[in-house]
Amino acid sequence: MGKDKLRKFAENLTFECFVQPAFEEMFRTDHPLKGNWRKDFFKNDNPIVLELGCGKGEYTVALAERNPDKNFIGVDIKGARIWRGAKTATERKMGNVGFLRARIEFITSLFAEGEVDEIWITFPDPQLRTKRAKKRLTAPIFLEYYSKLLAKDGGSTSRPTRNTFSNTPRPLSRSSALSARWQITISTARAMPTRYSR
Ligand SMILES: C[S@@+](CC[C@H](N)C(=O)[O-])C[C@H]1O[C@@H](n2cnc3c(N)ncnc32)[C@H](O)[C@@H]1O
Repeated sequence: MGKDKLRKFAENLTFECFVQPAFEEMFRTDHPLKGNWRKDFFKNDNPIVLELGCGKGEYTVALAERNPDKNFIGVDIKGARIWRGAKTATERKMGNVGFLRARIEFITSLFAEGEVDEIWITFPDPQLRTKRAKKRLTAPIFLEYYSKLLAKDGGSTSRPTRNTFSNTPRPLSRSSALSARWQITISTARAMPTRYSR
């Protein structure tokens, strides 16, 4: 592994906004922050917005700057990418930003039912090969997980029933869940360009 990656991995651990759960804290168990992100991490009662597969966290940081009354958590497995967002949030002293290095497969070990108010998925890996379709962040198993996090009433009536592809980035929000029709938007807009939108 390159020295630069190792340096970023080490620096990640010094950022207050960075959380890297150990495997044993997520695998078939609940992480201590599950259900406690507002109280123990952000120390406020504001809504929580997730950006899943956040890469370098451009959306997480930019949305957090525009919405100081909400808490934003970027989730990605790639430590060297997430480092960029965590470093920016640290330098800008942003108290409403967190970065979580974890596989989204473990998301229900990391957030409690109803703990999340919005989910953004921007420019996800398309996973074009049929064999990899189940890895898409919009694959049915992932939608099932998201419905649990978003549905404050237990979730069984608010399962996603369709995917919509559009040019306008829009959050996957609880209000649409209430109508039992969630809109998963795969953003292709260039309003906030990221490495993967170009
Ligand atoms: C194409 S990039 C897009 C990054 C960012 N959303 C952007 O627009 O710049 C997809 C990101 O999703 C992350 N990712 C894909 N599947 C994941 C999973 N199961 N768990 C965690 N991260 C995942 C990858 O590591 C990668 O950084």
